Amino acid sequence: GPDRATEIRALIRDVPGYPHDPIVFRDITPLLADGAALRDVVEAFARLCEGDDGHAIDIVAGMEARGFLLGAPLATRLGVGFVPLRKAGKLPPPVERVDYDLEYGSAAIELRTGTLPQGARVLLVDDVLATGGTAAAAAELVERCDGKVVATAFLLELDGLGGRERLSGRVVETLLRVDERASS
Ligand code: PRP
Ligand code: MG
Repeated sequence: GPDRATEIRALIRDVPGYPHDPIVFRDITPLLADGAALRDVVEAFARLCEGDDGHAIDIVAGMEARGFLLGAPLATRLGVGFVPLRKAGKLPPPVERVDYDLEYGSAAIELRTGTLPQGARVLLVDDVLATGGTAAAAAELVERCDGKVVATAFLLELDGLGGRERLSGRVVETLLRVDERASS
């Protein structure tokens, strides 16, 4: 219920100015350290994929690093596999690579073609949706590696940074939302 959502929200620590202004860092470490909260978050993600109106998926993919922390337990809960979308230089070649922009600077994620079964129905999972740069790159990478992104799912959506718009045309599920313009 809404009270539980408030409790979960309180376990995400907001750190204004980290790593530098005007970023408000969203630290999920306290949530991960709370067994009941971690269980309830994984359960809430799982419900998105269950029932007649749930997303039918074959596999979960998560973005390094924090997407691993939520995506892997979710995959176990759903009884499906998990695919790590790695930051550049972590997987042995050959790999597909998608470059993307961060608020300041750039990054890249990689996965090898053939890791996903052809046409696999993929749920993309991450902790935070901010500008959507990471998620858009991840979705492109999955599709370049023969997967189909059925939906994207985030613990926390930072409203006002354009993430949802960046992912327009895709299904975007978020468990919690905060108005970034009001909080910074
Ligand atoms: C953070 C967060 C999301 C991403 C959201 O990851 O975990 O993956 O930023 O931002 P965006 O929507 O603007 O792309 P980060 O790259 O800081 O690293 P980490 O997950 O490895 O901690
Ligand atoms: Mg991340």
